[in-house]
Amino acid sequence: MNLSIALYTLMLGIACDAFVAQLKPRSISGMGLNAARQPIMAGNWKMNPGTEEEALALAEGVAKLLGEETCALSDDEANEDTCTEVVIFPPFPFISKVKDTVEDIGLTVGAQNFFFEDKGAFTGSVSAGMVKSVGCEYMLCGHSERRTLFEEGDVNINLKVKKVVESGMKPILCIGETKDEFDLNIKKEVCAMQLSKDLFGVTKEQMADVVIAYEPVWAIGTGLVCGAEEANEVHVFIRECLTNMYDEEVAQQTRIQYGGSVTPESVDSLMAQPDIDGCLVGGASLVDEKFSRIVNFKKL
Ligand code: PGA
Repeated sequence: MNLSIALYTLMLGIACDAFVAQLKPRSISGMGLNAARQPIMAGNWKMNPGTEEEALALAEGVAKLLGEETCALSDDEANEDTCTEVVIFPPFPFISKVKDTVEDIGLTVGAQNFFFEDKGAFTGSVSAGMVKSVGCEYMLCGHSERRTLFEEGDVNINLKVKKVVESGMKPILCIGETKDEFDLNIKKEVCAMQLSKDLFGVTKEQMADVVIAYEPVWAIGTGLVCGAEEANEVHVFIRECLTNMYDEEVAQQTRIQYGGSVTPESVDSLMAQPDIDGCLVGGASLVDEKFSRIVNFKKL
């Protein structure tokens, strides 16, 4: 770790300690309450696949494998409320056709990015209204690749989250610590800071449409999955933060996904955790068999 990173993390740690102390976490636990939260699985295709033909083949593969079965496998009396909600985030040029391919089996689509202005001279950008008009229901906000590769800060992420909810869509707000922050044991402080900045000004009523994705940056695309219990511990902490920022009702109703190298092998144990309500899947969502197995996770 170089000196500037070390100094940054040290200062963040001190600032966060003070911030987290103010949060005065109440003793809540999600144990037994997650039955009220519908599971949500999302496939973030990122900048893949390379052509429209390949994108449609992938969407058709997912639609064929899932059929109408987006319910956890051992859920015998599955009904619409207990089945899993599934969202696919294709690259912009493929959104409309992917939507046409998957909507009949009840899947929805979302946009990986947008600009928070409504319209105008912003070459290369698309607006929330534009993607909504082609059928997007969800928007990713604050993904770590946007934060790092495209230098998106919390101020802009907050503007985007607010734009999404004001536009009648639903943000999946991604938060999570880097490897350095994990090593410094400040993952909770980082999550608390990102939540407070990215949700600033979002009302309690608007929180009904917000999904949080806890994605430890060191686990994204690396094959390093965060242990299920370790991830659940952070999810419980996120609910404590939401209790303090809003109230316990918001904390218990908000769905919190885990993201970072989720595979068919790891999904069942992740979903067995009481505070993990779904997964945000990158690499494995590009293989129809893997993604459909993740959607049809087995209840342990
Ligand atoms: P991954 O990506 O599943 O390939 O780690 C997750 C994500 O970036 O959301």
